[in-house]
Amino acid sequence: MTDRPKTPRPFPFDAAQTTRMLDWARARIEDGPDPKAGARDFATLEPVLGGSVTENGIGAEAAFRLFTDAIVPTTRPYDHPASLSFVAAAPSTASLSFDAVLGAAEIFAGNWDGGAGAVHAENQALAWLAGLAGWDGKAGGVFVAGGTLGNLSALHAARNWAAAQRERPERWAILASVEAHSSIKAVADVMDVDLILVETDTNGRMSAEAAKQALTGRECAIVANAGATNCGSVDDILGLADLAEEQGLWLHLDGAYGLAAIADPEARAIFEGIERAHSFIVDPHKWLFAPYDSCALVYRDARWGAAAHGQRAAYLDAVDQAAWNPSDYALHLTRRARGLPLWFSLATHGSRAYGEAIATTLRIARDIAEGIDAMPGLELTLGPQLTVILFRPHAMSDAEMEVWAETHRRSGALLCLPTTWRGRKVFRLCIVNPTTDPKEILAVLETLT
Ligand SMILES: Cc1ncc(COP(=O)(O)O)c(C=O)c1O
Repeated sequence: MTDRPKTPRPFPFDAAQTTRMLDWARARIEDGPDPKAGARDFATLEPVLGGSVTENGIGAEAAFRLFTDAIVPTTRPYDHPASLSFVAAAPSTASLSFDAVLGAAEIFAGNWDGGAGAVHAENQALAWLAGLAGWDGKAGGVFVAGGTLGNLSALHAARNWAAAQRERPERWAILASVEAHSSIKAVADVMDVDLILVETDTNGRMSAEAAKQALTGRECAIVANAGATNCGSVDDILGLADLAEEQGLWLHLDGAYGLAAIADPEARAIFEGIERAHSFIVDPHKWLFAPYDSCALVYRDARWGAAAHGQRAAYLDAVDQAAWNPSDYALHLTRRARGLPLWFSLATHGSRAYGEAIATTLRIARDIAEGIDAMPGLELTLGPQLTVILFRPHAMSDAEMEVWAETHRRSGALLCLPTTWRGRKVFRLCIVNPTTDPKEILAVLETLT
């Protein structure tokens, strides 16, 4: 490939095995996952995988066979278009194949010195997201592993920002709605701050009025849902931006799942007020067609992130501190350039294709919800809100719903699991894949009636 002498690597390795592995990767990207794959219990896995780490090694061929025959088949195929539970995944071919390439390039993207071009390209993708929010060149951030770390890093910056402007209360608090993702509760625990939870309306939406009434005077930040995971609701971002401004609070949008919809110009209005938020997150591994794992964390003014983060040590003095160093914007140091698969797919297909894919997914959710509503045996309980739909079969007990869900998961026809909404068990669908076929999904749902 190059006329450079080959770089030596630790341990000898058979080049033919490398080819076999890359061939498998290509086939997997092209063929996609087996919808029937899924977890097996410990007792099944242990005889196969237990003891695979030995003193002398089992060799690459045997180890890779374990991967293809025992590991992959016991993982859930979230990137299948009939996988509609939790928040699934729908990585594009471009992003998946590029991710494999990225792994081979072994780029250190914690700072500019280590990953200049990669960091610059990641920043193009972040600038696209910032632009959709209406933010200017002062905005910036970083790709972190997931929404949990994105929320933590943003809210740490929020507290730091608040502490610089006013007297510290005896104990800080963060205000969010009862529909806030579990990661917000985890973040509050890690930060050792109180979490004030605000009741929502019947659709799971937090109003600015309700938020105002719940304020304790100790808050440093308000977290608004930009697509609550369980019900898809988007809080009153505009009203919350007014409230945050009035009270001198940071406004953070948790858009890990739902903020991807901002790429559709027709859906932009749902997030009105985002231009006045201080930070947001959105996970490209959810609804922006990128592989695991990546969360885009963006600050309206990147300096707010840098003021709170960044690590200093004698051995890091050689790093160019004046350059754009991704490690300055979140709680991490070493990182892979995990934003690059999104960048590559975006650069390949263009932002319009992204907007269209999001619009298609929103339409699919509407079609499925209409189909559910039209089926006499089903109650459309809520939605679609963004692409989340809650529904319940009239004639089934809670236990029967569980059995139905497991039967269809095992057959590979549909991953549709129950959740709880206002104290009742309901089925939940969350669609992030523009290739999901509403007719196929509705045909499976017919079996509920
Ligand atoms: C709204 C929301 N916030 C945060 C998270 C946490 O993201 P992650 O699983 O990437 O840490 C999720 C995950 O589903 C989510 O839906």
